[in-house]
Amino acid sequence: MKYDFDEVIDRHNTFSMKWDCREIHVILGITPRFDEDTIPIHTADMDFRCCEPIQRALRAVTDHNIYGYTGVFPGGYGQTYYDAVIGWFKRRHDWDIKAEEIVYANGTMEAIRSCIEAFTEPGDGIMITRPVYTPFTGTILKTRREVVNSPLVDREGNGFYEVDYEDFEAKAALPSTKMFLLCSPQNPTGRIFTDEELLKMAEICRRHDVLIVADEIHGDLIRRGNVFHPIAKVAGPEGIITCTALNKTFNIAGLQATNIVIQDPALLDTYRKNANFVLPNPFTAAATVAAYNEGEEWLEQLIDYLDDNIDFVIDFFREHMPKVKIRRPEGTYILWMDFRDYGLTGDEIRERIYEKANVMLESGPQFDPERGEGFERMCVPTRRSLLKEALERIAAQFPEG
Ligand SMILES: Cc1ncc(COP(=O)(O)O)c(C=O)c1O
Repeated sequence: MKYDFDEVIDRHNTFSMKWDCREIHVILGITPRFDEDTIPIHTADMDFRCCEPIQRALRAVTDHNIYGYTGVFPGGYGQTYYDAVIGWFKRRHDWDIKAEEIVYANGTMEAIRSCIEAFTEPGDGIMITRPVYTPFTGTILKTRREVVNSPLVDREGNGFYEVDYEDFEAKAALPSTKMFLLCSPQNPTGRIFTDEELLKMAEICRRHDVLIVADEIHGDLIRRGNVFHPIAKVAGPEGIITCTALNKTFNIAGLQATNIVIQDPALLDTYRKNANFVLPNPFTAAATVAAYNEGEEWLEQLIDYLDDNIDFVIDFFREHMPKVKIRRPEGTYILWMDFRDYGLTGDEIRERIYEKANVMLESGPQFDPERGEGFERMCVPTRRSLLKEALERIAAQFPEG
Protein backbone atom coordinates (compact mmCIF):
# COMPACT_ATOMS: atom_id res chain seq x y z
CA MET A 1 0.00 0.00 0.00
CA LYS A 2 1.02 3.60 -0.44
CA TYR A 3 1.71 5.50 2.80
CA ASP A 4 1.11 9.23 3.14
CA PHE A 5 3.96 10.84 5.05
CA ASP A 6 2.61 14.31 4.23
CA GLU A 7 -0.48 13.76 6.37
CA VAL A 8 -1.07 16.47 8.98
CA ILE A 9 -1.29 14.74 12.35
CA ASP A 10 -1.75 16.64 15.61
CA ARG A 11 0.29 14.92 18.31
CA HIS A 12 -0.58 17.33 21.12
CA ASN A 13 -2.24 15.78 24.17
CA THR A 14 -1.02 12.25 23.50
CA PHE A 15 1.67 12.17 26.23
CA SER A 16 4.20 12.70 23.46
CA MET A 17 7.60 13.51 24.91
CA LYS A 18 8.30 15.59 21.84
CA TRP A 19 5.03 17.54 21.64
CA ASP A 20 3.56 17.56 25.16
CA CYS A 21 6.27 17.40 27.75
CA ARG A 22 7.24 20.98 28.33
CA GLU A 23 8.79 20.02 31.64
CA ILE A 24 11.29 17.57 30.25
CA HIS A 25 12.62 20.16 27.84
CA VAL A 26 13.03 22.67 30.62
CA ILE A 27 14.63 20.08 32.92
CA LEU A 28 17.07 19.12 30.20
CA GLY A 29 17.78 22.80 29.64
CA ILE A 30 16.96 22.40 25.96
CA THR A 31 14.96 25.60 25.70
CA PRO A 32 13.28 28.11 27.91
CA ARG A 33 10.44 28.46 25.39
CA PHE A 34 8.00 25.66 24.74
CA ASP A 35 4.37 26.29 23.91
CA GLU A 36 1.58 25.27 21.53
CA ASP A 37 3.29 27.12 18.70
CA THR A 38 6.72 25.50 19.15
CA ILE A 39 7.87 23.36 16.24
CA PRO A 40 9.89 20.55 17.83
CA ILE A 41 12.31 19.06 15.36
CA HIS A 42 14.98 18.33 17.93
CA THR A 43 14.43 14.74 18.90
CA ALA A 44 14.75 11.45 17.03
CA ASP A 45 11.04 10.66 17.04
CA MET A 46 8.95 10.51 13.87
CA ASP A 47 5.64 12.29 13.36
CA PHE A 48 4.40 9.57 11.01
CA ARG A 49 1.81 6.90 11.63
CA CYS A 50 3.14 3.38 12.05
CA CYS A 51 2.85 0.86 9.26
CA GLU A 52 -0.40 -1.02 8.83
CA PRO A 53 0.99 -4.44 9.94
CA ILE A 54 1.98 -2.96 13.32
CA GLN A 55 -1.43 -1.38 13.73
CA ARG A 56 -3.12 -4.68 12.88
CA ALA A 57 -0.95 -6.61 15.33
CA LEU A 58 -1.61 -4.14 18.15
CA ARG A 59 -5.36 -4.24 17.47
CA ALA A 60 -5.23 -8.02 17.80
CA VAL A 61 -3.64 -7.57 21.23
CA THR A 62 -6.35 -5.15 22.40
CA ASP A 63 -9.09 -7.34 20.88
CA HIS A 64 -7.76 -10.23 22.96
CA ASN A 65 -7.67 -7.79 25.88
CA ILE A 66 -5.37 -9.71 28.21
CA TYR A 67 -2.09 -8.10 29.15
CA GLY A 68 -0.39 -10.67 31.35
CA TYR A 69 3.32 -11.31 31.78
CA THR A 70 4.78 -11.78 28.37
CA GLY A 71 7.80 -13.87 27.48
CA VAL A 72 9.63 -14.55 24.28
CA PHE A 73 11.51 -17.81 24.54
CA PRO A 74 13.15 -19.73 21.70
CA GLY A 75 11.15 -22.78 20.69
CA GLY A 76 7.36 -23.03 20.90
CA TYR A 77 5.29 -19.96 20.08
CA GLY A 78 8.10 -17.63 21.22
CA GLN A 79 10.13 -18.82 18.25
CA THR A 80 7.97 -16.62 15.99
CA TYR A 81 9.60 -13.63 17.69
CA TYR A 82 13.12 -14.92 17.05
CA ASP A 83 12.31 -15.97 13.50
CA ALA A 84 11.15 -12.43 12.78
CA VAL A 85 14.32 -10.85 14.24
CA ILE A 86 16.64 -13.38 12.58
CA GLY A 87 14.85 -13.01 9.23
CA TRP A 88 15.16 -9.23 9.33
CA PHE A 89 18.89 -9.16 9.94
CA LYS A 90 19.49 -11.82 7.32
CA ARG A 91 17.40 -10.07 4.65
CA ARG A 92 18.35 -6.47 5.41
CA HIS A 93 21.95 -6.83 6.57
CA ASP A 94 23.00 -10.32 5.47
CA TRP A 95 23.89 -10.95 9.10
CA ASP A 96 23.40 -14.44 10.54
CA ILE A 97 22.28 -14.53 14.13
CA LYS A 98 20.75 -17.29 16.21
CA ALA A 99 17.84 -17.20 18.65
CA GLU A 100 20.10 -18.05 21.61
CA GLU A 101 22.23 -14.98 20.85
CA ILE A 102 19.34 -12.53 21.14
CA VAL A 103 18.42 -10.94 24.47
CA TYR A 104 15.39 -8.66 24.74
CA ALA A 105 15.85 -5.30 26.52
CA ASN A 106 13.43 -2.51 27.43
CA GLY A 107 15.02 0.09 25.17
CA THR A 108 18.49 0.69 23.88
CA MET A 109 19.75 3.00 26.60
CA GLU A 110 18.58 0.45 29.17
CA ALA A 111 20.47 -2.20 27.21
CA ILE A 112 23.61 -0.06 27.25
CA ARG A 113 23.21 0.63 30.93
CA SER A 114 22.88 -3.06 31.73
CA CYS A 115 25.96 -3.83 29.60
CA ILE A 116 27.94 -1.20 31.50
CA GLU A 117 26.82 -2.69 34.80
CA ALA A 118 27.32 -6.30 33.71
CA PHE A 119 30.85 -5.87 32.39
CA THR A 120 32.51 -2.96 34.18
CA GLU A 121 33.01 -1.62 37.69
CA PRO A 122 32.43 1.86 39.12
CA GLY A 123 35.45 4.00 38.29
CA ASP A 124 36.22 2.15 35.05
CA GLY A 125 36.69 4.19 31.90
CA ILE A 126 34.13 3.95 29.08
CA MET A 127 35.17 5.33 25.72
CA ILE A 128 32.97 7.44 23.51
CA THR A 129 33.71 9.50 20.41
CA ARG A 130 32.15 12.95 20.64
CA PRO A 131 30.10 14.49 19.25
CA VAL A 132 27.81 11.68 20.25
CA TYR A 133 24.27 11.01 21.45
CA THR A 134 24.01 12.87 24.78
CA PRO A 135 22.69 10.03 27.00
CA PHE A 136 25.91 8.06 26.41
CA THR A 137 27.64 10.56 28.68
CA GLY A 138 24.75 10.64 31.17
CA THR A 139 24.58 6.86 31.46
CA ILE A 140 28.33 6.55 32.01
CA LEU A 141 28.23 9.17 34.74
CA LYS A 142 25.07 7.84 36.38
CA THR A 143 26.60 4.39 36.62
CA ARG A 144 29.63 6.05 38.26
CA ARG A 145 32.02 5.19 35.45
CA GLU A 146 34.41 7.67 33.82
CA VAL A 147 33.96 9.22 30.40
CA VAL A 148 36.99 8.65 28.16
CA ASN A 149 36.44 10.78 25.08
CA SER A 150 38.31 10.27 21.83
CA PRO A 151 36.89 13.11 19.72
CA LEU A 152 35.93 12.47 16.13
CA VAL A 153 37.84 14.74 13.75
CA ASP A 154 36.58 16.75 10.82
CA ARG A 155 39.92 17.05 9.03
CA GLU A 156 38.76 18.98 5.98
CA GLY A 157 36.22 21.10 7.85
CA ASN A 158 33.46 19.76 5.59
CA GLY A 159 31.43 17.85 8.16
CA PHE A 160 32.98 14.44 7.39
CA TYR A 161 33.87 13.06 10.81
CA GLU A 162 36.43 10.30 11.33
CA VAL A 163 38.02 8.48 14.21
CA ASP A 164 41.45 9.79 15.19
CA TYR A 165 43.05 6.35 15.47
CA GLU A 166 46.17 7.51 17.24
CA ASP A 167 44.15 9.16 19.96
CA PHE A 168 41.65 6.28 19.95
CA GLU A 169 44.42 3.76 20.56
CA ALA A 170 46.00 5.90 23.28
CA LYS A 171 42.64 6.12 25.08
CA ALA A 172 41.92 2.41 24.61
CA ALA A 173 45.34 1.60 26.05
CA LEU A 174 44.66 3.42 29.32
CA PRO A 175 44.55 0.72 31.99
CA SER A 176 41.21 1.97 33.29
CA THR A 177 39.47 1.82 29.89
CA LYS A 178 37.21 -1.24 29.76
CA MET A 179 34.50 -0.51 27.22
CA PHE A 180 33.86 1.45 24.03
CA LEU A 181 30.36 2.66 23.22
CA LEU A 182 30.25 2.74 19.44
CA CYS A 183 27.41 4.68 17.83
CA SER A 184 26.96 3.24 14.34
CA PRO A 185 25.50 4.80 12.24
CA GLN A 186 26.71 7.81 14.12
CA ASN A 187 24.37 10.24 15.86
CA PRO A 188 24.69 13.22 15.32
CA THR A 189 27.19 13.28 12.42
CA GLY A 190 25.27 10.78 10.24
CA ARG A 191 28.42 8.82 9.40
CA ILE A 192 28.18 5.20 8.40
CA PHE A 193 31.60 3.83 9.18
CA THR A 194 33.15 1.78 6.39
CA ASP A 195 34.18 -1.84 6.94
CA GLU A 196 37.77 -0.67 7.08
CA GLU A 197 36.99 1.84 9.81
CA LEU A 198 34.99 -0.70 11.80
CA LEU A 199 37.79 -3.24 11.51
CA LYS A 200 40.35 -0.74 12.73
CA MET A 201 38.26 0.14 15.77
CA ALA A 202 37.69 -3.55 16.54
CA GLU A 203 41.39 -4.39 16.19
CA ILE A 204 42.43 -1.60 18.54
CA CYS A 205 39.81 -2.52 21.11
CA ARG A 206 40.78 -6.19 20.98
CA ARG A 207 44.45 -5.33 21.31
CA HIS A 208 43.71 -3.53 24.57
CA ASP A 209 40.98 -5.81 25.87
CA VAL A 210 38.30 -3.16 25.53
CA LEU A 211 34.78 -4.52 25.08
CA ILE A 212 32.77 -2.92 22.26
CA VAL A 213 29.11 -2.18 22.85
CA ALA A 214 27.76 -1.10 19.47
CA ASP A 215 24.57 0.94 19.42
CA GLU A 216 23.17 0.24 15.95
CA ILE A 217 19.70 1.68 16.55
CA HIS A 218 19.92 3.77 13.37
CA GLY A 219 21.15 0.84 11.26
CA ASP A 220 18.00 0.57 9.14
CA LEU A 221 17.75 4.27 8.34
CA ILE A 222 20.25 4.51 5.54
CA ARG A 223 20.38 6.99 2.66
CA ARG A 224 19.86 5.44 -0.75
CA GLY A 225 23.18 4.47 -2.27
CA ASN A 226 24.85 3.75 1.08
CA VAL A 227 25.36 0.45 2.83
CA PHE A 228 25.44 -0.23 6.53
CA HIS A 229 27.25 -3.21 8.02
CA PRO A 230 26.95 -4.34 11.64
CA ILE A 231 30.39 -4.29 13.26
CA ALA A 232 29.97 -7.84 14.61
CA LYS A 233 29.40 -9.05 11.05
CA VAL A 234 32.42 -7.20 9.70
CA ALA A 235 34.86 -7.88 12.53
CA GLY A 236 33.46 -11.13 13.92
CA PRO A 237 31.65 -11.49 17.24
CA GLU A 238 34.61 -11.71 19.62
CA GLY A 239 34.48 -8.92 22.22
CA ILE A 240 31.46 -7.24 20.62
CA ILE A 241 27.91 -6.73 21.85
CA THR A 242 25.37 -5.17 19.50
CA CYS A 243 22.26 -3.27 20.50
CA THR A 244 19.64 -3.39 17.76
CA ALA A 245 16.19 -1.85 17.92
CA LEU A 246 12.93 -1.28 16.11
CA ASN A 247 12.37 1.94 18.03
CA LYS A 248 13.74 4.32 15.41
CA THR A 249 13.18 2.16 12.33
CA PHE A 250 9.47 1.71 12.90
CA ASN A 251 8.76 4.69 15.16
CA ILE A 252 7.81 2.59 18.17
CA ALA A 253 10.21 4.03 20.75
CA GLY A 254 7.32 4.15 23.22
CA LEU A 255 7.21 0.35 23.04
CA GLN A 256 10.91 0.04 23.90
CA ALA A 257 11.65 -2.64 21.35
CA THR A 258 15.34 -3.48 21.64
CA ASN A 259 17.22 -6.70 21.03
CA ILE A 260 20.79 -7.17 22.16
CA VAL A 261 22.85 -9.57 20.07
CA ILE A 262 25.71 -11.32 21.86
CA GLN A 263 27.45 -13.93 19.72
CA ASP A 264 30.57 -14.25 21.84
CA PRO A 265 29.70 -17.17 24.18
CA ALA A 266 31.79 -15.92 27.11
CA LEU A 267 30.18 -12.48 26.95
CA LEU A 268 26.71 -13.99 26.66
CA ASP A 269 27.35 -16.11 29.71
CA THR A 270 28.53 -13.12 31.77
CA TYR A 271 25.64 -10.99 30.57
CA ARG A 272 23.06 -13.60 31.51
CA LYS A 273 24.64 -14.04 34.94
CA ASN A 274 24.93 -10.32 35.73
CA ALA A 275 22.04 -8.60 34.01
CA ASN A 276 18.39 -8.61 35.03
CA PHE A 277 16.09 -10.87 33.07
CA VAL A 278 13.75 -8.51 31.20
CA LEU A 279 10.29 -9.27 29.81
CA PRO A 280 8.73 -7.40 26.90
CA ASN A 281 5.11 -6.30 27.09
CA PRO A 282 2.53 -7.91 24.78
CA PHE A 283 2.43 -4.86 22.49
CA THR A 284 6.17 -4.89 21.98
CA ALA A 285 6.32 -8.60 21.18
CA ALA A 286 3.43 -8.34 18.69
CA ALA A 287 4.78 -5.17 17.06
CA THR A 288 8.23 -6.68 16.66
CA VAL A 289 6.95 -9.73 14.84
CA ALA A 290 4.65 -7.67 12.60
CA ALA A 291 7.23 -5.02 11.77
CA TYR A 292 10.12 -7.34 11.05
CA ASN A 293 7.98 -9.75 9.00
CA GLU A 294 5.79 -7.26 7.14
CA GLY A 295 7.17 -3.75 7.61
CA GLU A 296 9.62 -3.50 4.72
CA GLU A 297 7.22 -1.94 2.25
CA TRP A 298 6.59 0.94 4.68
CA LEU A 299 10.28 1.29 5.50
CA GLU A 300 11.24 1.58 1.84
CA GLN A 301 8.73 4.38 1.34
CA LEU A 302 9.88 6.05 4.56
CA ILE A 303 13.51 6.01 3.43
CA ASP A 304 12.56 7.74 0.17
CA TYR A 305 10.61 10.37 2.09
CA LEU A 306 13.46 10.96 4.55
CA ASP A 307 15.98 11.27 1.72
CA ASP A 308 13.79 13.93 0.14
CA ASN A 309 13.35 15.73 3.47
CA ILE A 310 17.09 15.82 3.95
CA ASP A 311 17.65 17.22 0.46
CA PHE A 312 14.87 19.73 1.05
CA VAL A 313 16.54 21.06 4.20
CA ILE A 314 20.01 21.15 2.68
CA ASP A 315 18.74 22.95 -0.43
CA PHE A 316 16.84 25.42 1.72
CA PHE A 317 19.91 26.34 3.75
CA ARG A 318 22.06 26.53 0.63
CA GLU A 319 19.65 29.04 -0.88
CA HIS A 320 18.60 31.09 2.15
CA MET A 321 21.32 30.66 4.78
CA PRO A 322 24.44 29.61 2.88
CA LYS A 323 26.67 30.25 5.90
CA VAL A 324 25.26 27.14 7.59
CA LYS A 325 27.45 24.15 6.77
CA ILE A 326 25.68 20.80 6.55
CA ARG A 327 27.03 17.55 5.20
CA ARG A 328 24.43 15.17 3.81
CA PRO A 329 24.31 12.34 6.37
CA GLU A 330 24.98 8.81 5.09
CA GLY A 331 22.55 7.37 7.62
CA THR A 332 20.06 8.48 10.31
CA TYR A 333 17.53 11.26 9.78
CA ILE A 334 19.68 13.71 11.70
CA LEU A 335 21.42 16.84 10.48
CA TRP A 336 24.47 18.21 12.28
CA MET A 337 24.59 21.86 11.34
CA ASP A 338 27.51 24.25 11.74
CA PHE A 339 26.42 27.85 12.35
CA ARG A 340 29.86 29.14 13.32
CA ASP A 341 30.33 31.29 10.22
CA TYR A 342 27.73 33.71 11.56
CA GLY A 343 30.21 34.73 14.23
CA LEU A 344 27.50 34.52 16.89
CA THR A 345 27.73 32.94 20.31
CA GLY A 346 25.83 29.73 20.96
CA ASP A 347 23.39 31.69 23.13
CA GLU A 348 22.79 34.19 20.35
CA ILE A 349 22.09 31.39 17.87
CA ARG A 350 19.71 29.69 20.31
CA GLU A 351 17.97 32.98 21.09
CA ARG A 352 17.19 33.42 17.41
CA ILE A 353 16.12 29.83 16.72
CA TYR A 354 14.58 28.63 19.96
CA GLU A 355 13.12 31.85 21.34
CA LYS A 356 12.30 34.02 18.34
CA ALA A 357 11.61 31.45 15.60
CA ASN A 358 10.13 29.14 18.25
CA VAL A 359 11.69 26.11 16.61
CA MET A 360 13.24 23.56 18.90
CA LEU A 361 16.53 21.96 17.91
CA GLU A 362 19.21 20.42 20.13
CA SER A 363 22.30 22.44 20.73
CA GLY A 364 25.79 21.24 19.92
CA PRO A 365 27.31 21.31 23.41
CA GLN A 366 24.93 18.57 24.49
CA PHE A 367 26.66 16.23 22.06
CA ASP A 368 30.10 17.65 22.61
CA PRO A 369 30.61 19.95 25.58
CA GLU A 370 34.14 20.83 24.45
CA ARG A 371 33.69 21.45 20.71
CA GLY A 372 29.94 21.59 20.09
CA GLU A 373 29.29 25.31 20.54
CA GLY A 374 27.98 26.84 17.32
CA PHE A 375 26.44 23.56 16.16
CA GLU A 376 22.77 22.60 16.18
CA ARG A 377 21.16 19.21 15.58
CA MET A 378 17.94 18.86 13.62
CA CYS A 379 15.83 15.70 13.16
CA VAL A 380 13.76 15.68 9.99
CA PRO A 381 11.25 12.80 10.31
CA THR A 382 8.21 15.00 10.04
CA ARG A 383 5.89 16.16 7.25
CA ARG A 384 7.59 18.41 4.73
CA SER A 385 5.08 21.23 5.21
CA LEU A 386 6.05 21.50 8.88
CA LEU A 387 9.75 21.36 8.05
CA LYS A 388 9.23 24.16 5.55
CA GLU A 389 7.51 26.31 8.14
CA ALA A 390 10.31 25.65 10.65
CA LEU A 391 12.97 26.57 8.11
CA GLU A 392 11.19 29.72 7.04
CA ARG A 393 10.84 30.82 10.65
CA ILE A 394 14.55 30.21 11.25
CA ALA A 395 15.62 32.01 8.08
CA ALA A 396 13.54 35.04 9.05
CA GLN A 397 15.77 35.39 12.12
CA PHE A 398 18.96 35.39 10.06
CA PRO A 399 18.43 38.43 7.78
CA GLU A 400 22.16 38.44 7.03
CA GLY A 401 21.50 35.26 5.00
C1 LIG B 1 22.17 6.51 19.11
C2 LIG B 1 20.94 6.35 19.95
N1 LIG B 1 20.92 5.39 20.88
C3 LIG B 1 19.84 5.21 21.67
C4 LIG B 1 18.73 6.01 21.53
C5 LIG B 1 17.57 5.78 22.45
O1 LIG B 1 17.07 4.52 22.19
P1 LIG B 1 15.96 3.85 23.10
O2 LIG B 1 14.75 4.72 23.01
O3 LIG B 1 15.77 2.52 22.47
O4 LIG B 1 16.51 3.79 24.48
C6 LIG B 1 18.70 7.01 20.57
C7 LIG B 1 17.53 7.89 20.43
O5 LIG B 1 17.58 8.92 19.83
C8 LIG B 1 19.84 7.18 19.75
O6 LIG B 1 19.88 8.11 18.79
